[in-house]
Amino acid sequence: MAGKLEGRVALVTGAGNGIGRGIAMKFAAEGAIVGVNDFKGEAAAATVAAIEAAGGRAEILPGDASARETVRALVLGLAARHGRFDIVVNNAAWVRYEPILGISQKSYDRMTGIGFGGIVWSIQAAAEAMAKGGSIINIASSAAFLGMENAMIYCGLKAGVTGLTRAASVELGPRGIRVNAIAPGSTQTEQVVAMLTPEMVEKRLARTPLRRLGEVEDIARAALFLASDESSWVTGTTMLVDGGVTHSFA
Ligand SMILES: NC(=O)c1ccc[n+]([C@@H]2O[C@H](COP(=O)([O-])OP(=O)(O)OC[C@H]3O[C@@H](n4cnc5c(N)ncnc54)[C@H](O)[C@@H]3O)[C@@H](O)[C@H]2O)c1
Repeated sequence: MAGKLEGRVALVTGAGNGIGRGIAMKFAAEGAIVGVNDFKGEAAAATVAAIEAAGGRAEILPGDASARETVRALVLGLAARHGRFDIVVNNAAWVRYEPILGISQKSYDRMTGIGFGGIVWSIQAAAEAMAKGGSIINIASSAAFLGMENAMIYCGLKAGVTGLTRAASVELGPRGIRVNAIAPGSTQTEQVVAMLTPEMVEKRLARTPLRRLGEVEDIARAALFLASDESSWVTGTTMLVDGGVTHSFA
């Protein structure tokens, strides 16, 4: 049976770990050729090895996804090698949780450079490469809709990601390019599991209507929906995939 993304060409940024890795593997399992970007080349290579071991097709694409020329080269390179470019998932992030008085210029530049600027450049490149339409998926966060301590930049830039998603959907819609975002709640990537204490988990579960944290697979399934033709009339939206926590007043 043909996969839902058979023959499509996709790029996933920050796909060496966590959510990006899960999305890259899901897309490849559904027949896409996946460009696996990460600035950690070894991590990207590990994802590609896992995809190939499962019978899928992927390319190792190391590089800094916050840099305009790098992102452009990744996108246009994939388009040139495969004769088409259909899907990009802007997932890469570098995150620091810091009190307002402790924020340095360096951490501000790095966090916004990859979490906001990189998405701008990726959408620009995709708009050039998606000659026959396509799907752009930006990974936001439930933090886009919440106020969180020590997270002024993170909350602000993720809210910005939902805004640029709406604006890009309006401008690119007439060309058949859909632009959507996913806002995950706490999702059990290696890093998140290492960061959460049992007390923090208990507190989050008490606030989460579905009483569990997210799995990478939960986010990958949402990304597959937004990447595939099953969402062909969906654009400009931010899909919460969060067990209900964002709208809970518990
Ligand atoms: N895990 C969660 O609970 C959670 C919740 C909400 C939103 N998110 C969002 O999901 C996305 C993925 O998060 P994750 O938890 O899987 O993170 P992660 O840290 O596990 O993975 C992020 C990957 O991005 C890569 N990366 C960082 N900067 C890069 C750059 N400049 N160029 C290329 N690659 C770069 C890292 O090397 C890493 O492999 C992020 O946008 C994050 O904000 C995660």
